[in-house]
Amino acid sequence: MEVTVNNIPVQKAATSKIHDVDFDNLSFGSTFTDHMLVSDYVNGEWTPPKIVPYGPISLEPSSKIFHYGQSIFEGMKAYKDEQGGVYLFRPLENWKRLNRSAERLAIPELPESHFMDGLVALLQLEQDWVPQNPGSSLYVRPFMFASGTGFHASPADEYKFIIALAPSGAYFSGKVKVLIEEKYSRAANGGVGYAKAGGNYAGQFYPTQLAAEKGYQQVIWTDDNKHEFIEEAGAMNVFVRIDDTLITAPTNDRILDGITRKSILDIAADEGIDTEVRKISVKEVVEAAKNGSLREMFGAGTAAVVSPIAAFGYKGVDYELPELADSYASKLKQRITDIQYNRAEDKFGWRYKVI
Ligand SMILES: Cc1ncc(COP(=O)(O)O)c(C=O)c1O
Repeated sequence: MEVTVNNIPVQKAATSKIHDVDFDNLSFGSTFTDHMLVSDYVNGEWTPPKIVPYGPISLEPSSKIFHYGQSIFEGMKAYKDEQGGVYLFRPLENWKRLNRSAERLAIPELPESHFMDGLVALLQLEQDWVPQNPGSSLYVRPFMFASGTGFHASPADEYKFIIALAPSGAYFSGKVKVLIEEKYSRAANGGVGYAKAGGNYAGQFYPTQLAAEKGYQQVIWTDDNKHEFIEEAGAMNVFVRIDDTLITAPTNDRILDGITRKSILDIAADEGIDTEVRKISVKEVVEAAKNGSLREMFGAGTAAVVSPIAAFGYKGVDYELPELADSYASKLKQRITDIQYNRAEDKFGWRYKVI
């Protein structure tokens, strides 16, 4: 008898790994659940998604993913409330962004129903894997890549879409010291920076390693032209608070349109915090650090929600940020996580109930 969940066919794993997992000591993104969702693009269309046991996949060495890097992904989380309800946060935004990335990398776009119905079915099947410890969640990784073959540099004719899940513990970034980049670029005008393309991250690793050797955990990327303006961090958008105004750079074709970033802008406005979306020059930030008006800097992204920056380095000088008792970072993180974990009213309609 065929088993289906939410009308998606399921091939069940023979055994579950869940009892081998220490849910009190989860790291980020390194333990995987029993099942994954798969859909293949063949003969010009995406096949109906199915759920199969999580495990290795077989690809030919000539698959174009290995040669031309047609590979994109998304990152989101499922949260469990105290009653065992499971929620997503603005999942349609992830589907829309996946398709913006797909378009830019010449990958066929995925229908909404493949993404949403598949995701809901997979989460319903794997609901016991959504951790309930404070701050923990089930990290959701949808991704798509060229499985079609050929050594000619052109888009593949076959692709795979997969959603895999990883229970993850509370993310404590600690005191983050960042380096404002003066030489390397993450993205260029007209390039793929706004897409969540795998290669964007590969290109960040080497400059980030160089920064780590100097004692910095993250690089703050600046514009590729003259490295004058602050753009974003490794996997986070960046906010700067000068006096009481919260500022973030406008998104453009070099910056990922972060879902946390836009949620923070809405919540900050709702809190009566002055916000500005405008270019932020490195010069302005250094001057504000020197004259004491730079109150906070933080990264914003799905993994940590808000990650406060304790210091930044620029041209060989380190600038410390003050420790504030009532920071915007902690207030905004509290408001977003209260919505995500169903602890507060959701006036924006962002919470998406799965179970
Ligand atoms: C380069 C980059 N910027 C920003 C973000 C933050 O985006 P979001 O808030 O949607 O996670 C991410 C993470 O997805 C990222 O990879």
